Amino acid sequence: MLATVKILLTRWEWLQELAEEFGRHRAKEFNVGVERKDTGVRYEDVAGIDSIKADIEEVMKMILGAEEYQAMGARAPRGILLEGPPGTGKTYLAKAMAGSSNVAFFSANGSEFVEMFEGVAAARIRDLFRVARKHAPAIVFVDEIDAIGKARGRGNDSGSKEREQGLLQLLYEMDGFEANDGVLVVGATNRVALLDDALLRKGRFDMVIYMGRPSTSNRFKILEVHAKDKPIPREGDSVWESDALLHRVAELTIGYAGADLANLLNEAAILMVRKDAQAIDMSLIQEAMDKRSLGLPSARLPDSEAKTRMATVQAARAVATALTPGLPPLVHCSIQPRGGHMSRIIFLPQVPAFSSPHTYYFINNVINNVLPMDSPMPAPGAYQMNS
Ligand SMILES: Nc1ncnc2c1ncn2[C@@H]1O[C@H](COP(=O)(O)OP(=O)(O)O)[C@@H](O)[C@H]1O
Ligand SMILES: [Mg+2]
Repeated sequence: MLATVKILLTRWEWLQELAEEFGRHRAKEFNVGVERKDTGVRYEDVAGIDSIKADIEEVMKMILGAEEYQAMGARAPRGILLEGPPGTGKTYLAKAMAGSSNVAFFSANGSEFVEMFEGVAAARIRDLFRVARKHAPAIVFVDEIDAIGKARGRGNDSGSKEREQGLLQLLYEMDGFEANDGVLVVGATNRVALLDDALLRKGRFDMVIYMGRPSTSNRFKILEVHAKDKPIPREGDSVWESDALLHRVAELTIGYAGADLANLLNEAAILMVRKDAQAIDMSLIQEAMDKRSLGLPSARLPDSEAKTRMATVQAARAVATALTPGLPPLVHCSIQPRGGHMSRIIFLPQVPAFSSPHTYYFINNVINNVLPMDSPMPAPGAYQMNS
């Protein structure tokens, strides 16, 4: 009898421990405790967003209780929401806030709160804020916050009730029974439209910062950061005083986000090693760009009359294009098959209209119809062709 009670009791304790363990937050901790792990990212690593950085640095000063703000009675915002398409540096910027300030930083992902057991999400959020307050001033970063912050009543899956409890807890914690508890909440999402309105109300995410795809000059700044550790010639030519190559890449990469630019240089560096080259040049960059937009190259076409004809026509198209007024400058022309494309002419995406694939296909169609593949070969000697 006594033995059974004892067993039941130990089971009960064990269950309690298990529940507690489940309710503990899963966030990664930086700048906390003896270990003081560093995110390793600094403000200067995040390029091309100078005015955003200035805003954020100001908020950080308020959080750290800078006297000039206190004297003015300024209250730090409760939360900053970073919003924008993927790869634009939202996560990176949040890490830089920790890396540059040394403030206790708790980095969570919206999805890690939600488990299949009811009440876990709410418990984890409660625990996270409890720990953060203990270490104040502190930042609670919730990446991909849409996983927990989706508007209520949207989903009717079994997990949505659990998620909504988590959201309610988050709203409660952000409301803050103490307005100035020194905890700043930073959220990041690329689906802001899905978020519950209550999250965006005053006193919660009071500051919403849009992080969009960078402009040409900002792409150049981002490229500079990622070119630092790579062998890229930094000299100039007649157009630009220095960094001609990076300026050119910045011009060619309309629509690329910061992550795409970092990837592009990385791909080019891999190609450089594979080809035993000494430095990254424009042809390697172009190849890396083709890989992204057109897919992997297929095997080279075997030499044949058909191939010569194709090269000839493609060269003729390129010349025709170059001589047609109003078309953007030609960047590249090739008959190396890639993805579903046998051959291609690529324009400098100078005017935004020309950068859309529709316009590109329109131009290409015009060229195709003016110079169909089966048009007769130009007379020999009419031009010189590099094969
Ligand atoms: N503004 C930027 N400056 C420098 N690097 C950037 C920038 N934006 C993105 N990157 C690069 O792209 C990577 C991914 O960015 P990330 O912050 O994860 O994007 P997001 O969270 O917005 O989807 C970063 O680790 C960094 O290498
Ligand atoms: Mg991210």
